[in-house]
Amino acid sequence: MALVEFLAELDQLARAATAAFAAADNAGALESARVEFLGVRNGRLKTVQKGLGKVDKTDKPTAGKRFNQVKRQIEAAYQAAAESLAETAAPIADTTGFDPTIPGNRPRLGHLHPITQTIEEIVDIMGRLGFTVAEGPEVEDQWHNFEALNIPPEHPARDPLDNFYLATAEKAAGGKVWLLRSQTSTVQIRVMEKTAPPVRVISLGRVYRPDTPDATHVPMFHQIEGLLIDTHVTMADLKSVLRLFGMSYFEDDVHIRFRPSFFPFTEPSVEIDMSWHGGWVEMGGAGMVDPNVLCAVGYDPEKVTGLAFGLGIERMCAQRHGITDIREFFKNDVRFLQQF
Ligand code: FA5
Repeated sequence: MALVEFLAELDQLARAATAAFAAADNAGALESARVEFLGVRNGRLKTVQKGLGKVDKTDKPTAGKRFNQVKRQIEAAYQAAAESLAETAAPIADTTGFDPTIPGNRPRLGHLHPITQTIEEIVDIMGRLGFTVAEGPEVEDQWHNFEALNIPPEHPARDPLDNFYLATAEKAAGGKVWLLRSQTSTVQIRVMEKTAPPVRVISLGRVYRPDTPDATHVPMFHQIEGLLIDTHVTMADLKSVLRLFGMSYFEDDVHIRFRPSFFPFTEPSVEIDMSWHGGWVEMGGAGMVDPNVLCAVGYDPEKVTGLAFGLGIERMCAQRHGITDIREFFKNDVRFLQQF
């Protein structure tokens, strides 16, 4: 092969390769161009190199020198194109920083507190038994928390050590005394004051007592109060309502045990124990509404009788879920709460 021809071929290859590398506008296109021109096996530079062997012996040094120059030139053109692509690609990656193929961050959904769930369930069950929900304030006066409930001033239940009395300006001036209600029985009075019999209500909410916290006591807890006033209401109705309620809440055969007790606002009074999966647990107090209470709200005890009960919601919820310490409900440890 004549030297001129070989050199012309080299020049043409250099121009074509330089143009191809400069035209590549993405990494894929540049790689195809590299394989076409610089590919180790079948690249066009390799093909031209094979022509070197056919150049006349005397022209070989000149041809070889030129071949090496063109090879370096093509390699440099490839390098420059690769660098310029990297420069333009990098800022795009930085500014967007968004890979639509990466799975998204799923927000963690919360749910209602187990005590709130229990309250909703109780409202549902008692609703099916015909009880509607009544509400009362958490800050109470002495009439609703004590007097109307047949708890006279000298009664030990009114001891400041057993209640959260509020240090209000009224009290300082010798006026009305307020306290955080110590039981939901206050709502019985508020309902009866406003409603003529028959009455069939429940009331659920927070109550406060300065009890030392332990596995079954906390200073702020929740009660459900039930009140049914009508003609001919008896202790048998009380037991039936509580048993039906217990069986619905625990979704099982629950046994109810009454132990004689005393509450100033019921006569007779009982402690309610429930047995479910073995063992008896005290759930609350109950009884027939005391005639003095009926009189205090203007009802005629000769015409109507009533049943009332008050249960601790934390203890019921704990019993159902196998929780051995009710303080867990208020630690707000997500690992505990998310189980419900
Ligand atoms: C009462 O509070 C009465 N008002 C119940 C009542 C209503 C009787 C209507 C008659 C008629 P007692 O103090 O026993 O009763 O409390 C009722 C329930 O509240 C207890 O059985 C218990 O389940 C729950 N309880 C009482 N103290 C605490 C406490 N510190 N922490 C958590 N639960 C408590």
